[in-house]
Amino acid sequence: MATPQRYTVTAALPYANGPVHIGHLAGCYLPADIYVRYLRQQGRDVQFICGTDEHGVAINLKAQAEGCSPKEIVDRYHEVIRKGLEGIGCSFDIFSRTSKAIHRETAQDFFTKLYEQGSLVEKTTEQYYDTQAESFLADRYIQGTCPNCGFEEAYGDQCESCGSSLSPMELKNPVSRLSGGRPERRETTHWFLPLDHLSGKIEQYIRAHGHWKPNVYGQCMSWLQSGDGLQARSMTRDLDWGVPVPLPQAEGKVLYVWFDAPIGYISATKELLGERWTDYWQREDTKLVHFIGKDNIVFHCITFPSMLMEHGDYHLPDEVPANEFLNLEGRKISTSRNWAVWLHEYVADFPGKEDALRYCLCANAPETKDNDFTWKDFQNRNNNELVAVLGNFVNRVLVLLNKYYDGKLPEVQAPTAAEEQLQKARRQAPDRVAAALERYRFREAQLAMMQLAREGNKYLTEEEPWKTQKTDPSRTEAIMHEAAQTAALLSQLMEPFLPFAAARLRGYLQLDLIPWEKLSDGDLLPAGHRVEKGDLLFEKVSDEAVEAQKQKLEEPAPAEEKHPPLKEEMDFETFTQQDLRVGTITAAEEMPKADKLLKLSVNLGFEQRTIVSGIRQHFDAAHLPGQRVTVVANLAPRKLRGVESQGMILMAENADGMLHFVAPPAEAENGAVVR
Ligand code: 2FM
Ligand code: ZN
Repeated sequence: MATPQRYTVTAALPYANGPVHIGHLAGCYLPADIYVRYLRQQGRDVQFICGTDEHGVAINLKAQAEGCSPKEIVDRYHEVIRKGLEGIGCSFDIFSRTSKAIHRETAQDFFTKLYEQGSLVEKTTEQYYDTQAESFLADRYIQGTCPNCGFEEAYGDQCESCGSSLSPMELKNPVSRLSGGRPERRETTHWFLPLDHLSGKIEQYIRAHGHWKPNVYGQCMSWLQSGDGLQARSMTRDLDWGVPVPLPQAEGKVLYVWFDAPIGYISATKELLGERWTDYWQREDTKLVHFIGKDNIVFHCITFPSMLMEHGDYHLPDEVPANEFLNLEGRKISTSRNWAVWLHEYVADFPGKEDALRYCLCANAPETKDNDFTWKDFQNRNNNELVAVLGNFVNRVLVLLNKYYDGKLPEVQAPTAAEEQLQKARRQAPDRVAAALERYRFREAQLAMMQLAREGNKYLTEEEPWKTQKTDPSRTEAIMHEAAQTAALLSQLMEPFLPFAAARLRGYLQLDLIPWEKLSDGDLLPAGHRVEKGDLLFEKVSDEAVEAQKQKLEEPAPAEEKHPPLKEEMDFETFTQQDLRVGTITAAEEMPKADKLLKLSVNLGFEQRTIVSGIRQHFDAAHLPGQRVTVVANLAPRKLRGVESQGMILMAENADGMLHFVAPPAEAENGAVVR
């Protein structure tokens, strides 16, 4: 492509079923943000698009685990994710949601066009069905052994261990995640994108992008060349949460989440720009760049481009700079085991140190292979590089300028070899950083920026302006002039990587952001320009802070993850209205035609009660007489299957759904008040 006229840069839409962790940040959001900040500094026309992916089975499963609605889940996590990402400096032009009406319309229109022009194939096939839950088991509702790598917890749509995309029927030993049972097969009708017929076009498209990162290109090629080649993929699902399929014959069906989610990029652009959205999606002089993690490669390099090709009005993705995975302290990051550093928690635990995490994750970015984050390395990089090199250099410059010249930049003097060397480094640094960023080599780019800081630091240490100030003050003027120019250039080059510190430094230097092409021109600050002394640019991370984080990793998953969230607060009066009493079950029998109910007789000391309780699936009636219980004794009686129930028995429910009686101790007599 000739120089693009504009850029559309997307970062994968995170599922709104949980918070984002540092693996997500390193894999996709941070490189995307660095790239976009750089493009903006280059003066290019760019839109940075992101938002939450609010459909798909992952959301239903989370809602089910927490006993609330999918809507409550996505509302909650959209906010948590947005705050975390914005808190760490992600400078999206829009952070939208796929639950918005504009998205539903855009996704439905897209589907309708494909349907009407005959791009989709209607097929009736057998799908797994859970008879107990009375539900088809799409995607993540089903789990089993991956046919490719043997991982035993692969999902029906994807194996998170080897990254391969799957269909439920390919899993070995399938199990329903709704009931835990073995599913049966039932027929259902869906609409498929015929990737098998499109494979020639797709292969041509992929081959035209042979410059893609080897991990991305290689993964695409291996799918294209795998045994059976590409398979038709269903773009609809039997689910009640999602974008409804816009066909009268498809009631109760929604669009497949991987159909609607990437369209989310388009609908968010529409929301942001109104009619101008087409410039960013439908013109050939636009460069479309998708930042994603490696588990999303197939969807962005094969499925989504196929959808766009079939639609016909769209420009295809130009770059998909996907990263590999980040490990944590030598282990795979795991949400369920809480082996993760959560972004929103980092932002809360380390206020003012947003750049430290950005720096460390960029330095360790899993660009070509999986990589490891350790808290010790985080501390070392912060203390030995940001504080001791970059921070030390600029703070020395600002302090000395203020001490010797009251903050006013001295005149330039005849350069010695030392200045010439640093000037050369200054001339080269912007191009080095830019060349690496243009090729998505973020580690290399950040290293090139830091290299200039190292040279500046070394220069000050070797030239010792504090000594020449006593012996040869004009030499000190020369040194400080040169050092100030270097600090000024750093304040510009830092911007994509360390935006918070860069803004602070530019504030101290009283300098705006300068267009990138001007950065190699020479001095950025004229003689006589005034600078402030400022504060320390970076502060150390203490041993205690590192220990606390390591400790936190060893803690079990937070209660919020396992148990439903607390209900709304109530006042004391409301609480005292309930009358809880100690009782003992004296008889228990199964209720006819009610497989969940038991009829219990309970001795409350002063009277005998009949209570119908929904615990039949948990307890054997024969074992219940003698069981001590806590009873809500002033609950209005109600009829259940023809029997009047005169109270309720309190149960404790574990996260795994097991029920236990809240049993008073033997010393508490029947009828005793519980309060
Ligand atoms: O893997 C994920 O978290 C997906 N929600 C990414 C979607 S990217 C895009 F297609 F929306
Ligand atoms: Zn696998």
